[in-house]
Amino acid sequence: MSFLRINNIGKTFLGERKEKVIALSDLSFDCQDGEFLCIVGPTGCGKTTLLRLIAGLERPSVGDIALANTPVLGLNRETTLVFQQYSLFPWRNVIDNVCFSLEMKKIPKKTRYLKARKFIDLVGLAGFEKALPYELSGGMQQRVAIARALAHNPKLLLLDEPFGALDERTRHRLQAELLGVWQKERKTVVFVTHNIDEAIFLASRILIMRDRPGRIDYEIKVDLPRPRDRRSPGFLKVHIKIREILEQILTANNKESTL
Ligand SMILES: Nc1ncnc2c1ncn2[C@@H]1O[C@H](COP(=O)(O)OP(=O)(O)O)[C@@H](O)[C@H]1O
Ligand SMILES: [Mg+2]
Repeated sequence: MSFLRINNIGKTFLGERKEKVIALSDLSFDCQDGEFLCIVGPTGCGKTTLLRLIAGLERPSVGDIALANTPVLGLNRETTLVFQQYSLFPWRNVIDNVCFSLEMKKIPKKTRYLKARKFIDLVGLAGFEKALPYELSGGMQQRVAIARALAHNPKLLLLDEPFGALDERTRHRLQAELLGVWQKERKTVVFVTHNIDEAIFLASRILIMRDRPGRIDYEIKVDLPRPRDRRSPGFLKVHIKIREILEQILTANNKESTL
């Protein structure tokens, strides 16, 4: 039984001139409990739209989405979405940002601080509890966003290019940390990235999307042992394969851009 089931969904928007924009069409996939799924695809192929639909922020135009056998009809507490931009509350310090959902649940301060500290430790930010977002680097802010998402204790963690704005070293460090968290907390993760290397480093399975309209084009299971070595022949082989598929997609649509 699939944990997350996307069943033949489509999403159509009205464009600026009231024209129909088909963002997603005939899109289906399943995700098992505890899987680390990565989604890659060209800009504008509908990755963000897909995550917003899974999170229940929007409804598909056709088709349906089910989480643990329950239809997703709106925002629900099983799912949390982390965006690329560090979407922290600027006036709250680290621990109060992480505590936000616990506060909403009316959990007493002492208990919520205790819980929040666990996640702050987990993302390597112990000692920064009282810092305000503007005092932190981009990488640290994104760690706070992840700790805040985890404190909410979702079954499904959705991440939309969360490390896209970070330099390579920080990105690599956060990738390793996220894997550690995933292994420890046993979450199901759907991670969107345009970075092939990142997808191969993280995923148990990679879905490649095609654009116009957005749909799943290809699926690759990544069986390489962890921690993965970016320079190993197995890693490079998967990299070349994905590169080829994406180039075909881009050529088919006559695009100059890459991802
Ligand atoms: N609210 C909206 N209104 C109109 N068009 C939208 C809206 N959201 C997304 N789109 C369009 O849907 C397509 C997919 O967008 P998006 O999901 O952001 O792609 P990606 O995240 O893969 O870059 C794009 O053509 C985009 O312009
Ligand atoms: Mg996007």
